[in-house]
Amino acid sequence: MAVMPRPFAPVPAPPPHFPVGGPVPAADLVGREGYLRRLVERLEDGQHVLVAGPRRIGKTSLVLEALRRLRRRGQHTAYVDCLGATDLRGLGERLADAVLQNLTGVERTFEQAKAIAAGMRPTVKVRYEHVELALQLARETNAQRFVEGALDLPQALAKRSGKRVVVAFDEFQAAGRLGPRMFDVMRAHFQAQRGVAYAFLGSEQGILEELFSAKGHAFYRFAVPLDLSDAGGHRFGIDPDDWLEYLRGKFAEKKLAIDEASVDRLLDATGGHPQDTMQVCAALYYLMRDTGARTVTADLLGVAYEQAMRELERPFALHWGELGTHKYLQQVTKRIAHGAVLYAAEGDGATVPRPEVLRALRALEERGLVVRLGRGRYDFVEPMFGEYVRRLDEAVLVAAIVPKR
Ligand SMILES: Nc1ncnc2c1ncn2[C@@H]1O[C@H](COP(=O)(O)OP(=O)(O)O)[C@@H](O)[C@H]1O
Ligand SMILES: [Mg+2]
Repeated sequence: MAVMPRPFAPVPAPPPHFPVGGPVPAADLVGREGYLRRLVERLEDGQHVLVAGPRRIGKTSLVLEALRRLRRRGQHTAYVDCLGATDLRGLGERLADAVLQNLTGVERTFEQAKAIAAGMRPTVKVRYEHVELALQLARETNAQRFVEGALDLPQALAKRSGKRVVVAFDEFQAAGRLGPRMFDVMRAHFQAQRGVAYAFLGSEQGILEELFSAKGHAFYRFAVPLDLSDAGGHRFGIDPDDWLEYLRGKFAEKKLAIDEASVDRLLDATGGHPQDTMQVCAALYYLMRDTGARTVTADLLGVAYEQAMRELERPFALHWGELGTHKYLQQVTKRIAHGAVLYAAEGDGATVPRPEVLRALRALEERGLVVRLGRGRYDFVEPMFGEYVRRLDEAVLVAAIVPKR
C-alpha cells in the first residue's frame, strides 16, 4: 500500500530561545568548551571522572553533550539519573535500558528483553541479538542479584562490541539511598571492569567529596574530580567574555541588541550563575518581544530581573527549606544576607554560640550556597538567592504591616 503523505504531520514546537530548567542543547552551552574537551578526553582514555557541583550550574547539560560527542566518535554511552530510581530494581532497569539502547536504538528496551525471555515474540525493531546480553538478567527475580547483574552489563557490552562504553550516573549520591552498602557493591563491580569509563555527577557535594576522597569510603580515589564551579578561575567556570559573545549573538538572531554594559550589569545581578542568568535572559527576551523594544536597557533588565526572581522562587524555596532541617542554618544565612555581624558577642542579643556559627558556615560552604571571602566575610554563591533570603524578611514585615481583612 502506498504511504500517503501526511498533510498535517505534527510539527515539534520550537525550543525556547533561552532554554531554562533542563539540559540545554550544545548551542546554548555557554563557556564550557575547554571543560568539555577535558571531560571527553579523560573518558575516552578510560578514566573515571567526578563532576560535583551545586544545582543548576549545568552538570547534566555538560555530561549529555560529552556523551553525544563520544557517540559521534563511535563509542557506546549510557546515561542514568539515579534520582529517577525509587528502588534497586528501578536503578538496574534504568541502567539496562541505557546500555541496550546502544544496540537497539530505542529507549526502554529492557521490557522487550523481558518479553523475549518469557518466550514472547519480539517487536520488529528489537531483535533477539539486540537483547541477548540481558536475557539472563531479565529472568532474575532477586532484587540484589538483579542490580548486580545490571552493573555488569556495561562490561558485557564493551566485550561484545569491542568498543569503549562510557556510563554517566547523574545525581549519583542518590544511589546510596537505594540499598545497604550500595556504594560498596558498585565499586566492587566497577573496579573489575575493563573497557568501561564512568562519569559520576552530583549536586550534594558534601556526600560526594566524602565518598570519593575520604579514606575508607567506597569510592576513595576511584575517579578524577574535574572542578566545574571554579574552572579557569571564573565564577561557575564560565568566562564573562563567553557570555557576552553568546548573548550578543542570541539577541541578534531576533534582531535585538544588547551592549557590553548591559551584559556586565546582568552578570553582576546574577553573579554569572548559569541558570539564574538564563532565567533573566528568557524573561528579558519575552518582555522585549511583548513591548516591541529593540535594545536592552537598564529598565528592561530591572523588570526582567523581577520576573526571573518570581520564577526562581521554587528552587530557592527548596534550598531554604533544606536549611530549615538543621539548627541555626537559616539564622546564619539571614545574617549573611543582611551583612550582619556573624559572631555577635554574648549579650548582643546573639542566640547562636560561636562554634555553631562556624559549623553552620562550613555546612553552607559545603552545600555550595556560600563562599568565604576572607576573615569573617562570607557571601552568597548566587546573588539572587541572597536577594531571595533578604526578601523573606521584607515579606514578613509587609504581612505584619498590612492588616488582614
Ligand atoms: N553552560 C551553560 N550555558 C547556559 N545556560 C546554562 C549552562 N549551564 C546551565 N545552564 C542553565 O541552567 C539550567 C540547568 O542546567 P542543568 O544542566 O540541568 O544543571 P545541573 O545539572 O547542574 O542542575 C539550564 O536549563 C540552563 O538554563
Ligand atoms: Mg542535573
